[in-house]
Amino acid sequence: MSRRLFALAVAALALTAVPAPAQQASDAIAPEAATPAATAKLVTAKSYMVAAANPIAAATGAEVLKQGGSAIDAAVVVQTVLGLVEPQSSGLGGGAFLVYYDAGRKRLTTLDGRETAPQMATPRLFLDKDGQPMKFMDAVVGGRSVGTPGTVRLLQEAHNRWGRQEWKRLFEPAAALADAGFAVSPRLAALIAEEGDGLKKYEATKAYFFDKAGAPLKAGAVLKNPAYAETLRAIGEGGADAFYTGRIAEAIVDTVRMAAGNPGVLALNDLVDYRVRERVPLCISYRALEVCGMGPPSSGAVAVGQTLGMIENFDIKGLGRDNPESWRIIGDAQRLAFADRGRYLADTDYVPAPIKGLMQKDYLGKRAALLDGDKALADEAVKAGEPEWDHALNFGRDRAIELPSTSHFVIVDRDGNVVSMTTTIENGFGSRLMTGGFLLNNELTDFSFETHDNGVPVANRVEPGKRPRSSMAPTIVMKDGKPLLAIGSPGGSQIIGYVAQALIAYIDWGMDVSQIVAMPHLLNRFGTFEIEAGTGAEKLAEPLKALGYEIKTGALTSGLQAIEISADGLKGSADPRREGVAVGE
Ligand code: GLY
Repeated sequence: MSRRLFALAVAALALTAVPAPAQQASDAIAPEAATPAATAKLVTAKSYMVAAANPIAAATGAEVLKQGGSAIDAAVVVQTVLGLVEPQSSGLGGGAFLVYYDAGRKRLTTLDGRETAPQMATPRLFLDKDGQPMKFMDAVVGGRSVGTPGTVRLLQEAHNRWGRQEWKRLFEPAAALADAGFAVSPRLAALIAEEGDGLKKYEATKAYFFDKAGAPLKAGAVLKNPAYAETLRAIGEGGADAFYTGRIAEAIVDTVRMAAGNPGVLALNDLVDYRVRERVPLCISYRALEVCGMGPPSSGAVAVGQTLGMIENFDIKGLGRDNPESWRIIGDAQRLAFADRGRYLADTDYVPAPIKGLMQKDYLGKRAALLDGDKALADEAVKAGEPEWDHALNFGRDRAIELPSTSHFVIVDRDGNVVSMTTTIENGFGSRLMTGGFLLNNELTDFSFETHDNGVPVANRVEPGKRPRSSMAPTIVMKDGKPLLAIGSPGGSQIIGYVAQALIAYIDWGMDVSQIVAMPHLLNRFGTFEIEAGTGAEKLAEPLKALGYEIKTGALTSGLQAIEISADGLKGSADPRREGVAVGE
């Protein structure tokens, strides 16, 4: 198909592909008890597949693979389309982490495209004039929370290494769609309506998400974004440099610095100096598999790995998924992992962290011994442990807040290359600031607002150039040196629980990818058991209460996308709580 025909086909799809409202999560812990309408679709394919949070993005990415593009070519297209059709979650104005399996070299690589704090930011960025932490949303909305975006450099870096198709060509599908217009999805429409006046503070954002009469755009409304098309074509022509220098960079800086009521300190040199970092993939062995993901500045792989490393000491398979005892062990293992995360994890370019010690089997065995009882751990017992490390340093506990947002996609191409990428602008609609047709992130609010805890510095405090700690957990599970499962989710710090639960369900309980993405959620980060409302998980509320937990029942809107890779082909699925799909052939 020619480039122009491809762009036209995408535009036609965009105008018709208004997804159905998100389905409820399945009705019971046991998949066989789930009602058929509530389960996720299991998609099978022989050669290639994309699973992403929006059907237009997934279909456009799959078309690139069909035309012989690589997984990274498709990732560029999926990300640029997501930035248009799911703008509230990720985009050019944000940051991302990529876990990539190179089938030719048989090698895993992780790339860190996390935002950085501006050079002019100080640890007191989110303290008011009396030294008190700002209210969270007062910090989020405006320029103060905007970090140097990393996603565009990440895409360029990945494409330089593993791209096959011409860079410029990969920006055309999203640009054509932005020119032609796309149908606003039910989820986007609902989120605009929910935000209401909160999204009207800044003129460019208001003009984009509301009609001329000031009403929020409705599902099915055709939305064009010529400014985004222009930005994309500039990056297509000039590479990432066209984003990090010149007109686009100047507009980002002006938007941040002139944000009424809450300006930020981002400067042109922050953009010019931005670099993607290659990090060592963090892997933990779990029941004969290797679970690999993103190390610091993300806490994702450490916290997921610690949870698995602790529960490996118990017969979770034998106990089964309907047993409160399984959830006591999983929930308290998560709490212990969060206690370590709160003390030790931050950007290791700035603070030393005992990553090796935290992942050691001996250490996790000792932590697991704390779970030997038969009741919920008392709050006083849930403290950071003392892993082995080289530095005689201590850190205060961090209370950074992360609210659910973000997007995850997975891609497998014909050659067996695998992408697992979690991408974000942090809060839904980020800082609410828009320039060049895209929203700017509020990632800096992932830092601790407090600089010290009882006189001890907090590892995840703001520092110039530092990357805020993340919970994003893009994961690839390896079996005998080959990728078996690619998975991840949005959801702020709940990401860790979503991904850990899905891995346990897949590995211990033998559930397939469509079952693990739809399974009702039970999470425990800080003591309270969070149980997904309206699902069979509610049946565990009373038994868990009897074990001593406080219970909170509510929405747990994960956005898990997963692809399993086996000798028989590919099996993929997208979380039914959002609008995603898996597409392959
Ligand atoms: N802002 C979401 C995360 O990085 O975890």
